Amino acid sequence: MSSTRWSLADLELSRIESDRVREHDALFLLVCSASFIESGSDTYTRNLIDHFQDDPDVAAWLRNQWEPEELQHGAALKAYVQRVWPGFDWEGAYADFFEEYARLCTMEQLEPTRGQEMVARCIVEMGTTTYYQALHEACDEPVLRDLFWRIRCDEVQHYKHFFSFFRKYREIEGLHRGQVLTALVRRALELRKEDATIALRHAVNWRLRTGADDGGPAPIANADALAQQAIQLVSAHLPMDLAVRMMLKPLMLRPRVQRAVERPLAALGRAVLLN
Ligand SMILES: [Fe+2]
Ligand SMILES: [Fe+2]
Repeated sequence: MSSTRWSLADLELSRIESDRVREHDALFLLVCSASFIESGSDTYTRNLIDHFQDDPDVAAWLRNQWEPEELQHGAALKAYVQRVWPGFDWEGAYADFFEEYARLCTMEQLEPTRGQEMVARCIVEMGTTTYYQALHEACDEPVLRDLFWRIRCDEVQHYKHFFSFFRKYREIEGLHRGQVLTALVRRALELRKEDATIALRHAVNWRLRTGADDGGPAPIANADALAQQAIQLVSAHLPMDLAVRMMLKPLMLRPRVQRAVERPLAALGRAVLLN
């Protein structure tokens, strides 16, 4: 039985202040591409559910909570897009996106051990947590802000679950820090960058097809510049300190060591992002 912590009915979609967002092209692209990735999440959640079939605790949580919550993120973001930009053909754009995305998901490699796989999942949830927190900061439409925050809190819970599963398998497998670091770096470098790029590209392409006449958003002139603007909007608001803390946690460093490396890493991250 699925047990999401909130439902679509909790969002006050009728209270959206559309004027605050309708013209915001960069935000449209970010909401739209997030709705694509979340709506397609069962393609990769299935992988993991199968992989952990013989661990009832993990499998039950993945099936009953994680997957329904990720899909609900997609459904809620989609509902928002359709309300504010009714002229945008979400279904058509999603079908296009999904065709490319599904091919990518089947090639997804699992980590060599279960503990390492859990580290990788922590990194993914760190990525989504900080992404939605950044969007929450970057936006001033109350209903969307509320939605971003709800999703952000779910992603934090996902991180916590994966982290506790990681600790369990770390014991069982006797994982050492080097193995944890390898998985961590490997996934941090990927960070579903490819997914985001694909989603953003399809959102831009389909947005270009939508004219102002069909009740859709005003046409956009320069797609590349707009995609760039969207990326910068996230980067400028990304909570780097939180990202670093969540990244380092699986290394289980002594508090003094962790504190010593947190600051320089956050500064480095900011420098990379903003350049
Ligand atoms: Fe999500
Ligand atoms: Fe998540």
